[in-house]
Amino acid sequence: MSKVTVLNHPLIDHKMSQVRDKHTNTKAFRETVSEIGALITYEITRDFKTTPKTIETPMAVMTAYELEKPVVIVPILRAGLGMVDGIHNIIPTAKIGHIGIYRDEETLEPKSYYQKFPKTITDSVVLVVDPMLATGGSASYAIDVLKKHGVLDIRYVGLVGCPEGIQRLQNDHPDVSIYLAALDEKLDKNGYIVPGLGDCGDRLFGTK
Ligand code: PRP
Ligand code: URA
Repeated sequence: MSKVTVLNHPLIDHKMSQVRDKHTNTKAFRETVSEIGALITYEITRDFKTTPKTIETPMAVMTAYELEKPVVIVPILRAGLGMVDGIHNIIPTAKIGHIGIYRDEETLEPKSYYQKFPKTITDSVVLVVDPMLATGGSASYAIDVLKKHGVLDIRYVGLVGCPEGIQRLQNDHPDVSIYLAALDEKLDKNGYIVPGLGDCGDRLFGTK
């Protein structure tokens, strides 16, 4: 069963209250989503393996430690883009892949329209990034695609999840750890998370 980590951190809770507030404007929403992405990155990377390397400081030779595997960030378009800059600021060596998926508004089934991944992706730790884990269909589909590409080490990173989405992801991909800034109560009849933060893509890009 995949591990679920809900970041109970005062700073993240504070920033989540800003993005949840419907009065927060597009600029502040976008900046704060990115900042939360950066803060979550500390927790996601906590168990990353490091490898020793001999370096010279201005004072002495020493053994330092570097990340063992490269990192690839894969945002699910569109809303996943909102978290990329924050994560990338913390791991600037990470490469970025993209997967375009939208939910059919009637069936809520994921529809894929774009995929582009760096060549090194199979040997990397891959962070699948999407702020909203609602039915879990989009995240599960994205992870299916990455596994078909041969990726072995995948983590899901989101802002808001709900029990339905977590259950779906755990059933479909029990090997994938889930990291969330907050865990909400439920889905409404239209597949939106309640209380949630509304339509994340529209709020990030001002499309409503
Ligand atoms: C939203 C969100 C997720 C998906 C989550 O994207 O960003 O990708 O819905 O829902 P699910 O867990 O039920 O699959 P949306 O389909 O609105 O597309 P957009 O990012 O292009 O706005
Ligand atoms: N997508 C969103 O943007 N918000 C939700 O609550 C569910 C899916």
